[in-house]
Amino acid sequence: MKFCVAIDGPAAAGKGTISRAVAAHFGFAHLDTGLLYRAVGMKGGDPAQAASTLCPEDLARPDLRSLAAGEAASRVAVLPDVRAALLTFQRNFAAREGGAVLDGRDIGTVICPGADVKLFVTASAECRAERRWRETGEGSLAEVLEQVRARDARDMGRADAPLCAAEDAITLDTTTLSIDEAVDKALRIVRAQLERG
Ligand code: C5P
Repeated sequence: MKFCVAIDGPAAAGKGTISRAVAAHFGFAHLDTGLLYRAVGMKGGDPAQAASTLCPEDLARPDLRSLAAGEAASRVAVLPDVRAALLTFQRNFAAREGGAVLDGRDIGTVICPGADVKLFVTASAECRAERRWRETGEGSLAEVLEQVRARDARDMGRADAPLCAAEDAITLDTTTLSIDEAVDKALRIVRAQLERG
């Protein structure tokens, strides 16, 4: 059985938590596509070369979740050659047997426009900054908020595959939701689509 769930949205909106929960609940494989861009950003050298030679060790670096890696990712993510080098891997992952959940910025719009379910997970910038700040324990809240806003602007403003909701995506605003509530809503949406066949 092939079944693809595309989950997009800005930094720290809850995509990762929701994606992992959906994958675990339905037994689907999960790909955090942000990790690919983080690994390219942290590898150094020519970004397009780094993207076309990414290996499992690059994805196992312990510093990929840092704020610096997020910044580096968003800088290399504007480069069309980098995005092109990562496209086939992501599409093959999405088409695997047994179902797949991919989370990122352009999954529903570019990587898997035919996905069975598309979710756009979002939350206010203030709420996302506070979550990211608590999660990483780095910098001040004001600095993290500034970074979140700068990253939103870069991700939404780039020419190639900008962050935006696909026309047929269901928006899930997690600003006032607990993790359990957000996960529950996502599970219901995916279950309904699976039952529809
Ligand atoms: O989701 P995460 O915060 O790990 O992503 C880091 C950066 O990688 C994003 O800010 C974005 O610039 C880039 N990215 C992207 N397309 C994706 C996933 C991530 O451009 N599908």
